Amino acid sequence: MIFAIVTVLILPLLRLSLAIPLPSEPNQPAKRQDQAAAQGATWTLADKYEGQNFFEGWNFYSDPDPTHGFVKYEAQSAAMDQKLAVIDESGVVTLSVDAKTKPPEGVQAFNRSAVRITTKKRYNGGLFIANFSMMPVGCSTWPAYWMTEGTHWPDTGELDILEGVNGSPPNKITAHTGAGCSLQVNADAISGTPPASMPQTCENQPGCGVGDTTPSSFGPEFNQAGGGILVHRWTSTKIEVWHFKQGDAPQDIANGKPNPDSWGKPQFLLGGDQCVIKDLFVDNSLIINTSLCGDWAGGAWEQSSCNKKADGTPRTCQEAVADPTLFTDAKWKINFIHVYQSSDDSGAPSPDPAQSSSGPDGTGASADPAAPTGDPNADPSQSTAGTQPPQTGDPAASQDLSQTVPGSGPPTAGEVALEATPGTETAPGATPSPSPSPDGAPPADTTPM
Ligand SMILES: *[C@@H]1O[C@H](CO)[C@@H](O)[C@H](O)[C@H]1NC(C)=O
Ligand SMILES: *[C@@H]1O[C@H](CO)[C@@H](O)[C@H](O)[C@H]1NC(C)=O
Ligand SMILES: *[C@@H]1O[C@H](CO)[C@@H](O)[C@H](O)[C@H]1NC(C)=O
Repeated sequence: MIFAIVTVLILPLLRLSLAIPLPSEPNQPAKRQDQAAAQGATWTLADKYEGQNFFEGWNFYSDPDPTHGFVKYEAQSAAMDQKLAVIDESGVVTLSVDAKTKPPEGVQAFNRSAVRITTKKRYNGGLFIANFSMMPVGCSTWPAYWMTEGTHWPDTGELDILEGVNGSPPNKITAHTGAGCSLQVNADAISGTPPASMPQTCENQPGCGVGDTTPSSFGPEFNQAGGGILVHRWTSTKIEVWHFKQGDAPQDIANGKPNPDSWGKPQFLLGGDQCVIKDLFVDNSLIINTSLCGDWAGGAWEQSSCNKKADGTPRTCQEAVADPTLFTDAKWKINFIHVYQSSDDSGAPSPDPAQSSSGPDGTGASADPAAPTGDPNADPSQSTAGTQPPQTGDPAASQDLSQTVPGSGPPTAGEVALEATPGTETAPGATPSPSPSPDGAPPADTTPM
């Protein structure tokens, strides 16, 4: 209620302040237009990850799992030879965990083969539509469809769109950012379940998240529903995530003319003056992977029913990984991932080609050696890619209200949802987010990454 009043009082003030044009930042593309245009914007298909050419747009990651899973990520040729990465005649892409190999008797330390792929292209906005007919389930599995930049975590952002462990719902849609971002959303404006107390900092671990408690958001029920459509709209001012059960998605998606403004409440919403998206999410690639055990699935093991065999005898996560019969449904089936761009917002293809599409072998600027490291998600295969993040973490940048609230026109549910509560912003250098539980495992209800 108090939030509602604050919103009513503050939003008009922010709107007024928009009338004062602010100088654009020097290292931003010159054509950074007002968010107003993105409302009702037309989205144009820019990248189609689909069918027989699907893998051309992705790199296979084959270094050790930074999250310490009992998993061996295979390079592309090995993954294809082992049929862990397959495109069938109808163009459906399947990414599997090895469900055949039995480690030799007595061998404890066994890493099961799986696949982790990353888009060659990096993004600074867009409308991303992923159509899955299956996601990996089963004890010890830790599947994720997510995005991050890879070398400057968390300052360049991470959004986990579909992620969880041991096949247990619900999906937790989670953001991890650098300093100066918190989740403060009007519960009426999202269909997901917001955290019990807000604002919740998004900084570092465990990030800020919303649970998608609709049946079929995750795991076996997701698969029984025939899968689902995960959409994220990422503009300069906000990130929203929608989940639709397979068959229930708006017709405009299947028609190739997506109109997110007509879809109703998103499950997840982040933005406003509590979180200046354009500074906090930079040069992200999409990633799909399935880890086994590791920091989260392994940490949550004892709270799951996976810790016992059918006959009731205890089973460790590592023992589960050794049993190939547990991985028959540990598969992603991807119908397509389509990326749309709008010429009206940061979703637009960047005028600077280096900024929007530098792959790992790209010739973009080298990584900033002064940037913070220690990224648990760091992806060495990408360490030379990308460009300098524009003023990430610059406290001055978060004062730029010109990007904070959409301009004229009636506010959408999403706009109203972003609570205007000046002063709640986490200052750079403020206290880090709550630490994981004492045993080192992340709390069961938070997403570690
Ligand atoms: C299994 O993977 C982990 C990384 O998660 C690595 O540290 C370990 O050495 C690997 N073990 C074997 C036997 O390859
Ligand atoms: C998702 O993919 C399936 C299989 O190709 C297709 O039948 C369905 O129409 C797609 N859904 C959307 C919303 O595009
Ligand atoms: C996927 O990739 C990285 C490293 O493996 C990790 O940080 C992220 O959380 C992973 N999730 C899974 C599902 O492995």
